[in-house]
Amino acid sequence: MNETEKIKKRYNRYSYIYDCTECPCELFSFQKYRKNIISSLGGKVLEVGVGTGKNIPYYNKVDYTGIDFSKNMLAKAKKKFPKAKLLYGDAQELEFKDNSFDYVITTFVLCSIPDPVKALKEMKRVVKKEGKIIMLEHVRSKNRLIALWQDIHNPITKFLFGFNINRDTKQNIHKAGLIMTKDQALALGDVLQLFEARKGD
Ligand SMILES: C[S@@+](CC[C@H](N)C(=O)[O-])C[C@H]1O[C@@H](n2cnc3c(N)ncnc32)[C@H](O)[C@@H]1O
Repeated sequence: MNETEKIKKRYNRYSYIYDCTECPCELFSFQKYRKNIISSLGGKVLEVGVGTGKNIPYYNKVDYTGIDFSKNMLAKAKKKFPKAKLLYGDAQELEFKDNSFDYVITTFVLCSIPDPVKALKEMKRVVKKEGKIIMLEHVRSKNRLIALWQDIHNPITKFLFGFNINRDTKQNIHKAGLIMTKDQALALGDVLQLFEARKGD
């Protein structure tokens, strides 16, 4: 089984408890960040790795498309939001034309995509020249002790749930050739980050 199939399988399994296990983080802070980031968006929006649809309530009047490669996660989102345009799809091979979207959104997704740089290059391809890619992500800390803790525990989260807690997402954004326009630490020291990027000329 290749890496993509493995991670897909883990999210299909995790889908049964995802909303429940994430609940404390949502109440503690994530909901607030989701709302702040999403409620002001307009135009054509692609959400990559929509999961169970936690961001969907915060979109106002956008032309929305959400994709996910886990059928079970997507089924949960479809059940909660039957009117939303939710499609099965892999972030590493987006089935959209170049320069299609005003915004591409990821929240807690670049930690689990098997090849995040490939996915970021795809996001770069489908976002419009004047558009924006907005990413709310947890990343590897610059604090050496925290990073060591993340490295030690990463095999556990990856095996159980499919996500990595030690990804250098900032570097991956640069590797994809995107221009970083925002890099803001939001919480948990420098672990929870808000990134914004554009494709450039
Ligand atoms: C931690 S969940 C986050 C879900 C949602 N964005 C949220 O904020 O609650 C990560 C999601 O990314 C999806 N995902 C991971 N790799 C993907 C890929 N290559 N293509 C599409 N979806 C992917 C998983 O199936 C899962 O639903």
